[in-house]
Amino acid sequence: PAKVYHEGYRPQVHFSPKAKWTNDPNGLVFYKGTYHLFFQHYPDDIVWGPMHWGHAVSTDLIHWKQMPIALYPDKLGYIFSGSVVVDENNTSGFGKNGQTPLVAIFTHHDPEGEKSGSNTFQNESLAYSLDAGQTWTKYAANPVLKNPGIKDFRDPKVFWYAPQHKWVMSLATKDRITFYSSKNLKNWTKESEFGKTVGAHGGVWECPDLISLQLNGKQYWVLLVSINPGGENGGSATQYFVGEFNGHTFTPVSTNTKWIDYGPDDYAGVTWSNTGNRKIFLGWMSNWIYANQVPTKTWRNAMTIPRELSLKQVGSDIFLTGTPVKELGRIASKSLRINPATAKLPAQYTLKFDVTKINDYSLEFSNDAGEKLIIGYDRQKSRYYIDRSRSGEIAFNKEFVNMAYAPRLSASSTSTVELVMDASSVELFADGGLTIMTGIFFPSKTYTHLKVVSNQADIKNMVLTPLSSIW
Ligand code: FRU
Repeated sequence: PAKVYHEGYRPQVHFSPKAKWTNDPNGLVFYKGTYHLFFQHYPDDIVWGPMHWGHAVSTDLIHWKQMPIALYPDKLGYIFSGSVVVDENNTSGFGKNGQTPLVAIFTHHDPEGEKSGSNTFQNESLAYSLDAGQTWTKYAANPVLKNPGIKDFRDPKVFWYAPQHKWVMSLATKDRITFYSSKNLKNWTKESEFGKTVGAHGGVWECPDLISLQLNGKQYWVLLVSINPGGENGGSATQYFVGEFNGHTFTPVSTNTKWIDYGPDDYAGVTWSNTGNRKIFLGWMSNWIYANQVPTKTWRNAMTIPRELSLKQVGSDIFLTGTPVKELGRIASKSLRINPATAKLPAQYTLKFDVTKINDYSLEFSNDAGEKLIIGYDRQKSRYYIDRSRSGEIAFNKEFVNMAYAPRLSASSTSTVELVMDASSVELFADGGLTIMTGIFFPSKTYTHLKVVSNQADIKNMVLTPLSSIW
């Protein structure tokens, strides 16, 4: 394992770039047994800069191997977020001699245009790969979808809509999502707009993804929309809408604002394409408030654990659930029933427990340097929380220490909680993944002690599963 992956704060079970900056996951696609993860990347510094698409591959969603940079900025601009599709029928014509092209649809962001005050500096472009994603060629006639005069016009996520034999693109257009369609990925027709008057609007809409999922034999469409700022815990967060889609318009079945992750550190997440009915989500595990300032030195930021999405009915409403992909089990050591008072916690692990009588409780993870991370539940307010005010290095941004809260959405009288703990992050999956909360932190040492404080809550079956490093 390369030494570079073992410096302080370095995630051991999450993807982070070998060196330098990352933000959004891009171009998530599964092809011929390989999961591709492209990512917003600035290879020259640990702050955001001219965007490239970095690249990593995995056969199990857990172990990642970083590859050469896939897309470099060019005269049309930086390479912003976007998606990759498998063009099975070679609709684009990029395939030669029967080859199946992989096609990337991304935003070209022209920094000069932006500086000059133009409104049309974001346009959608294509690149294709004829060697299963290893190398990429930009389309000579870029851009393929020109900006009509909307400053924010980005993050195309494309899928094949089989009933109408066409591609559908969801595009973030300032305060709404605009849907386009195409027969060949090159000529795009506007279909409709969604969202101007529903959902959270505390900031600009970004990184949409429209996916279909079944619930009780019925097909629904779920639209993910990242928003920055305006998240429930401040800054960046991802809301979603459950609804119907007919190839032209998206219609929500309810307009209550829902969040795919209520924590402060899951942004710009989207799903892998070409995975059939299985929908696997990956988010960027940070927040634009402080992403450029977190106290890492050689690299900055990481991705969440890939999560499998499903739908769940609660009362009269339908929610998304997310749970760590089962492949996480590949790095699991033997599970141990623990007594928190005497357990010595390892560096990275999952921790599961049942709450058979629900009342206030908290888990304090602490180290020998007196730093602690507190995760708990407040019955009165029906919400989970993460308190990182004494978690370690916190001074890099004053908004970092805000308490983070997440509503409990389940109506069940008992609860289950699973935590995925890594060197500088925790992901809480409560009630079967109905409430998810992700938070990052920067302790000077591993939190090796756990104290459970319970006010008449019955916490049972605490099971710790150490995870081995993926590097
Ligand atoms: C989301 C985002 C996208 C954009 C990219 C630029 O975090 O702002 O809208 O394409 O990051 O790096």
